[in-house]
Amino acid sequence: MKMVIISLLSVLSVLSIMCDDGFPSDYLYGQNAARADVGVKPLKWSKQLTRMAEKFLNKHIIHCLQGQLVARYSIYHGQNTARIPGFENLTAIHQAVEMWVEQKRYYDYESNSCIGGGNLCHSYTQVVWKDSKEIGCSRVTCRIGGSLVACIYRPLGNVAGQRPY
Ligand SMILES: *[C@@H]1O[C@H](CO)[C@@H](O)[C@H](O)[C@H]1NC(C)=O
Repeated sequence: MKMVIISLLSVLSVLSIMCDDGFPSDYLYGQNAARADVGVKPLKWSKQLTRMAEKFLNKHIIHCLQGQLVARYSIYHGQNTARIPGFENLTAIHQAVEMWVEQKRYYDYESNSCIGGGNLCHSYTQVVWKDSKEIGCSRVTCRIGGSLVACIYRPLGNVAGQRPY
């Protein structure tokens, strides 16, 4: 029994070494500012969603979704993911958040669609999605270098036929 507990503890500590959550404010500040800009209430931090983000990131730690960003945690949760080459610290978190928030310029409220071709505004619309109340995020250093950052949102955003706010 003691052995089981010890090995369980070492598995847990390895998991938490691989993921570096930063502080909730590293993720929340920029995203809640973007929400406030359009009159939407702030997201609340969820430890449960943070664990889900860690689980997702640990699964992709080798290649960190290089060249494809289609993977997500589940179809029941909203998710934003960003691969940030060159940064393996908190800067990667700030860059990921900035990247999502900056997509605002590709979102057209009138037509409720992305402009400029492609789907370049859906990370932004998830950030400001009014019905999303909770968020949990984490960051991992990829084996090939750089970081992968993921945030998971509940309830999920980008529901077809609805506006974010
Ligand atoms: C993060 O890493 C980059 C690149 O290695 C470095 O320039 C920067 O100063 C680091 N930032 C922090 C907050 O440690």
